Amino acid sequence: MQKEEQVLKNIWHELSLSLVESGHPYHIFSISTVYNGLPDARNVVLRGVNEEQKSINFHTDTRSKKVYQFSKENSVCALFYDKPKKTQLRIYGDIHIEDNKDTILKKWNDSKEMSKLCYLNKYPPGHTLSASKDYLYNEKDLKNIDKGVENFLIINLNIRKIDWLFLNHKGHERMLIDLKKNEEVKYEWIAP
Ligand SMILES: Cc1cc2nc3c(=O)[nH]c(=O)nc-3n(C[C@H](O)[C@H](O)[C@H](O)COP(=O)(O)O)c2cc1C
Repeated sequence: MQKEEQVLKNIWHELSLSLVESGHPYHIFSISTVYNGLPDARNVVLRGVNEEQKSINFHTDTRSKKVYQFSKENSVCALFYDKPKKTQLRIYGDIHIEDNKDTILKKWNDSKEMSKLCYLNKYPPGHTLSASKDYLYNEKDLKNIDKGVENFLIINLNIRKIDWLFLNHKGHERMLIDLKKNEEVKYEWIAP
């Protein structure tokens, strides 16, 4: 296997590993949007990796600002850094909100209760409050936690390009990986 292919294989491996290995650096990543010409970014938890579909996914609240931003501009950049392995990934792609009801229900049912509770909150993320915890769900809502599924979204990021950077005291390495759907993968070494 060529070195370039090995790098890509390893990227998929590490992304997948982060779903099951506690504390893996790729577990949390930052996703950036542009809205009205202005940048925005936030951390999210990586929840799924699909090498065949060339996509990754995370979960969010349908009422959050980022979801509105995706509806206006679905081109995004996701940023990962693995400090021990000195590897940065900049993943560029397009957002596709999951619409398969079975997939959504399965992910919801597999979620921990603690994660489900976030989706029961009375107010959407970013809503103005009169006191810091006024947004929290009502105690009576705990009897029907699964009502939260109404606010639960799976956000797929269909990958177009990966900018891979490996820091090394003997010489950094950087490569662009073009992953356009239904096309052969293209690799290009670039200066770091
Ligand atoms: C470590 C960490 C993990 C987070 N994971 C998620 C997540 O998986 N999904 C999510 O919607 N927000 C997550 N958040 C909160 C977001 O960073 C953000 O504050 C929130 O989603 C509102 O963002 P928005 O206003 O851009 O929609 C996380 C924050 C931190 C610090």
